[in-house]
Amino acid sequence: MSLVKPEIRVPIPGPNATKVVERDHRALFTTTKTAPIVAASAKGVWVTDVDGNRILDFTSGVGVVNCGYSHPKIVKAIQDQAAKLIHFAGTDYYYDSQVDLAERLTQIVPGPWAKKVFYTNSGTESNEAAIKIVKAHHPDRQQFLAFQGAFHGRTMGSLAFTASKPVQKRGFFPWMPGVTHVPFPNPYRNAWGIDGYEHPAELANRALDWIETLFSTSLPPEDVAGLWFEPVQGEGGYVVPPKEFYPKLAKLARDHGILLVADEVQSGFGRTGRMFAQEHFGVAGDVTCLAKGIANGMPMGAAVARADLDFDKNGRHSNTYGGNVLATTAGLATLDVLQGEGLVENSARVGEHLHKRLRELQQKREVIGDVRGLGLMQAMEFVKDRRTKAVDPAFKDRVVDEAMKRGLALLQCGKAGVRCIPPLCITEAEVDAGVEVLDQAIRAALA
Ligand SMILES: Cc1ncc(COP(=O)(O)O)c(C=O)c1O
Repeated sequence: MSLVKPEIRVPIPGPNATKVVERDHRALFTTTKTAPIVAASAKGVWVTDVDGNRILDFTSGVGVVNCGYSHPKIVKAIQDQAAKLIHFAGTDYYYDSQVDLAERLTQIVPGPWAKKVFYTNSGTESNEAAIKIVKAHHPDRQQFLAFQGAFHGRTMGSLAFTASKPVQKRGFFPWMPGVTHVPFPNPYRNAWGIDGYEHPAELANRALDWIETLFSTSLPPEDVAGLWFEPVQGEGGYVVPPKEFYPKLAKLARDHGILLVADEVQSGFGRTGRMFAQEHFGVAGDVTCLAKGIANGMPMGAAVARADLDFDKNGRHSNTYGGNVLATTAGLATLDVLQGEGLVENSARVGEHLHKRLRELQQKREVIGDVRGLGLMQAMEFVKDRRTKAVDPAFKDRVVDEAMKRGLALLQCGKAGVRCIPPLCITEAEVDAGVEVLDQAIRAALA
């Protein structure tokens, strides 16, 4: 029975971590690093750093390791495969594991139609593939829609769809032209700045009205090829839209022949308590973008699309590593574990417990303006004042830092949000241990 609490032997970063961090800063490009945690090994929901600290992980390696770290079945599948074959080129030749996984993905990704898979190496590349799939279907349409607050990646195509933080785009124009962003219906903090209670259906209608107004004024819908959405908005703040929203949005898009692209890179593979978050809303993208949890840490992604959207010629789109045999083997083992060990159900059940515990924290702490999420995709948003809902990004940074010092790894989201996205195998006792640390971190940040 493992000890259900973090263990800090030396303050993070310890001496070994400090050396790595210093060398890293000299040798590597700047990315999105925020905390000096240097991982050495991990098991389940626990990460051990290079100084022997035992850290409770509420990040799943940025939403990836849904089955938990070092799951023996996944490790074995990768080891066995590595000993046989690591690479031959799955886009130019064939691997059976690619086909096995594609057959399973096409069965479980939402949408009643026949589907096909294009394998990628990351979330941004899945979105790049979706852009080409949509463009290939609508060569005469040059316009696209996406939501304010969206995150779809940082390469020059997906970057055009991303709209969660200006730093991602500043100075990088021109990215792909033709993307218009529309407000996302955020039940806590709506884009129209109207304070007070608004019925969810009314909020959904406002967001739809905005699109209809665009269509009747400046953006002819006949020119719009595709509409991108994250079923639960991730990097932009873990925003769950009103349940009425997506079915109506899908109808609006379909009435105009606009393809729907569901980005489930972060929300997929059990994260929200269903295999895919679209299932909560009864909606299905013509293309669904996947990555992160797909292979429990092996770098991999996929665009799963309506079969009739397949490219008409060899060579229109491809890559060298897509569907790498180690990654697809890990993907198959990941699905076996997710489905065979009840992890999606655990995500729903323990996610509810986590949500309840975070709500209890909110009762105690005025600074927590909102708690929201589905399954084990939960977040809290920090505010300076509950009435004005003025965000408090500096406080969020202090909480993340104080939590790390106490052995809890957290990630931010939105302007002042903190995500709680542990591996889906987490127990209620481990959630309680994390919430206890979170409470201490908030107390320290308030001091
Ligand atoms: C919804 C969504 N789409 C796309 C991406 C980009 O994925 P990657 O970092 O693997 O390129 C992310 C990453 O956070 C994401 O959350």
